[in-house]
Amino acid sequence: MRRLLFCANWKMHLGPDEARDFARRFRERYTPTEDREAWFFPCAVSVEATAAAFGGLTGARVGVQDVHWEPKGAFTGAVSVPLAKSAGASAALVGHSERRHGFGETDEQTGRKVRAVLSGAMTPVLCVGETLEERERGETAAVVKRQLGAGLKGLLAAELDRVVIAYEPVWAIGTGRNATPGDAAGVHSAIRTELRTRGAGVTRILYGGSVNSGNVAALLAEPELDGVLVGGASLDPAGWAEIVATAAV
Ligand code: PGA
Repeated sequence: MRRLLFCANWKMHLGPDEARDFARRFRERYTPTEDREAWFFPCAVSVEATAAAFGGLTGARVGVQDVHWEPKGAFTGAVSVPLAKSAGASAALVGHSERRHGFGETDEQTGRKVRAVLSGAMTPVLCVGETLEERERGETAAVVKRQLGAGLKGLLAAELDRVVIAYEPVWAIGTGRNATPGDAAGVHSAIRTELRTRGAGVTRILYGGSVNSGNVAALLAEPELDGVLVGGASLDPAGWAEIVATAAV
């Protein structure tokens, strides 16, 4: 059975009280079903409150938006895998385009982070995607392949199956422009081929970039999409409950 994964990336929004309020409102509107999961990525200070507020909800998990590869030490402002786990996180975004392009995160660092997250028995959600200039130069496939190569470096086949990939074209994030379902499916299929050549069995591949309640059904109608990673449209509990309840056609 295809088990859809809906990831909410709250970015730099929703403090602990707001996260608790969100969870209460979401739970009032959402009936969990076995065919889907809803994962929440709050800012670090809200992880513990979010994990507590979604406790016991079938298919719900909480993750961090970024993680350091070292387990502890003098890394001001960073959160390690053990710290994230102790606050209730069981997943971590790695290499989100805002980390890559806004904070200078390198391909090599994404690989270290993925390996640290797996060693800590958490689930990495490795984000890949091309910029508009790269797309216009016809480099989408090459960029995504390079990012996968670095992010998944050194992983065994069994570890690859524990990684979730999120394809998020940078030009579609927060812009209101989303890839067409066909465009997204084409890149997903290329990602799947690349993962298989590395020995992966089944890997979940999400699409992200301006997903909302108006376009999510058409995107998920593509069998290549195993779910979505959503920023802006995940901040409203009623709207997000509607998106998570979307039927896969
Ligand atoms: P968006 O963000 O849905 O607001 O475009 C997606 C993301 O950055 O993960």
